[in-house]
Amino acid sequence: MPSADEVREAQRRTWAGLAPGWDRWDGVIQHQLGPVGVAMVAALEPGDRHRHLDVASGTGEPGLTVARLVPAGRVTLTDISPEMLDVAGRRAAAEGLGNVETRVAGADALPFDDASFDGVTMRFGYMFLPELRRATTEMVRVLRPGGRLASSVWVRPDDNPWTSLVLEAVAAEIPLPPRDPDAPSMFRCAAPGTVEALYADAGLRDVSGHDVEVELVTTSPEVYWDMISEHVSLVAAALAGAGPSQRDRIAHRTRDALAAYQDDDGTVRVPGVARVVVGTR
Ligand SMILES: C[S@@+](CC[C@H](N)C(=O)[O-])C[C@H]1O[C@@H](n2cnc3c(N)ncnc32)[C@H](O)[C@@H]1O
Repeated sequence: MPSADEVREAQRRTWAGLAPGWDRWDGVIQHQLGPVGVAMVAALEPGDRHRHLDVASGTGEPGLTVARLVPAGRVTLTDISPEMLDVAGRRAAAEGLGNVETRVAGADALPFDDASFDGVTMRFGYMFLPELRRATTEMVRVLRPGGRLASSVWVRPDDNPWTSLVLEAVAAEIPLPPRDPDAPSMFRCAAPGTVEALYADAGLRDVSGHDVEVELVTTSPEVYWDMISEHVSLVAAALAGAGPSQRDRIAHRTRDALAAYQDDDGTVRVPGVARVVVGTR
């Protein structure tokens, strides 16, 4: 079992490698994940001078959504990967958002004073952390009393064909090792109540969760394949072990499986479900 430091280092390397894919496919990714960010931010009800922390912010969401909503507020985006945060910083600058700062930091050692934020978000970050309880305690520590934490995780693979159909195509070609339930992976927090229990253990009150449906839309199966293999952590890891002809066969199988999700004009729409969990300090 790798140590917490080894997990963090492996994550740093993984996301440095995935950052160009997240940059390139930003429009498609944000279209897909946008409804999850909107649900998280709505639950926070940010006021005009809201001080916000977005943890595992990657290329900036949902922190940038908060920044657009509260021009007189202040938003701090943190992530363990400087490469992902660089993309976030460029996006903020391109939009002229003057109320955003970025800071490289791991979720389980946040370099901020106690009670210094009105709201904290973490969209699709929990699954990759070495110490989920410690990170939750940290996020609660930096939240002011009455402030809210909103996070999201993917529910089970069967409800997320947008990624599981590729993983099934990979598994048909390459024997995948049995999944370690404690190792970072997209579906690690899929069991109902996982995040709710972390919140309750960290002392949050009024904890509630609800599911949000998403849809990954690409103009063709070929575009779907390019984008999914360049930015999804589990898929990229699985494909790293494939040779060129295996990769071709996996791409072929994936395109066959996508037929069920294709419109007459070739557009591909593959659904998924995330769980948003909110709690108040
Ligand atoms: C799936 S991305 C989510 C990015 C963004 N929040 C979004 O929803 O678009 C996961 C992010 O978690 C970050 N991450 C992984 N381990 C981390 C850790 N220990 N502390 C902080 N961030 C971490 C990665 O660098 C990556 O940017």
